[in-house]
Amino acid sequence: MGYPQYRPRRMRKSALLRSLVRETHLSVSDLIYPLFVSDGRDVREEIPSMPGNFHFSVDNLIKEAKEVEQLGIPAILLFGLAAKKDELGSEGYDEQGIIQEAVRAIKKERLNLVIITDVCLCQYTSDGHCGIVKTKEPEFEIDNDQTLKILAKIALSHAHAGADIVAPSAMMDGQVRAIREVLDKHHLSDIAIMAYAAKYASSFYGPFREAAHCPPQFGDRRSYQMDCANVEEALREVKLDIEEGADIVMVKPALAYLDVIYRVKSQFHYPLAAYNVSGEFSMIKAAAGRGWLEEKQAILEVLTSIKRAGADIILTYFAKEVARWLKA
Ligand code: PBG
Repeated sequence: MGYPQYRPRRMRKSALLRSLVRETHLSVSDLIYPLFVSDGRDVREEIPSMPGNFHFSVDNLIKEAKEVEQLGIPAILLFGLAAKKDELGSEGYDEQGIIQEAVRAIKKERLNLVIITDVCLCQYTSDGHCGIVKTKEPEFEIDNDQTLKILAKIALSHAHAGADIVAPSAMMDGQVRAIREVLDKHHLSDIAIMAYAAKYASSFYGPFREAAHCPPQFGDRRSYQMDCANVEEALREVKLDIEEGADIVMVKPALAYLDVIYRVKSQFHYPLAAYNVSGEFSMIKAAAGRGWLEEKQAILEVLTSIKRAGADIILTYFAKEVARWLKA
């Protein structure tokens, strides 16, 4: 209907013409680069399961942040490796905690870089869970409401240190509201919240758990992370997070959840981030390392498809490589 009825044909396209009719444009300005901060001095330790990614002490993190800024990547997401863990994850909200130190140090450099911090307990709790464990047995249970208080404290301390965006990733009910309320109460309404709204229980987090030293010591995260079979539930989670005050909502992981990205974007038309997680990174690296995939093409294809599905922002460990390619 409406189209002229010529002989059916496809336009043969030169490279230039292809770029003219291209629908999706991946850009450096879409990317957020996740970084891991650890204690100590002059630490720059490669994470074995994530080649090209490192644990940085704060001094080296600053060097890295400068490089990221130079590449035109607009934002970094910081994960902290706690020096000491306890049942309440108290280093998470310690003013002298690793993230607080890191954020203050980067802020001092006045870089043109948005600083986002991960707000969760799993790197700080001795049992490696994202919330406070209420009971281990017979039924494993997380104390949602006690966890909210701690998450709010962590977010507040990150904001005081100078974070621009806090990113709650614990998947506790009401976490966005709890954080929004505490920030507003302390006149920090400018601090944005990027909510891990639809975070699935996924095997693709494997390399990260090693990188962040946070595998759960018992039980698993299925009681608070989503079942990969569900998409309606993701829409409900996103709706709640928007109502609670999220500025950006996130779907995580990305690649096995392109339909979720698509539906969230179509339904809410809200700033949407997708997390191209550690396992998605490592599987391309591993296959490319064996010559089974053409690395650059595979990476660009994956990231473009995440954007095509509807993501505005992509969190990816490929950010630096991609920035170099897109610049060239
Ligand atoms: C935990 C957290 C995880 C990731 C980000 N934050 C791991 C998990 O839920 O087990 C995964 C990121 C990645 O795999 O790249 N708060």
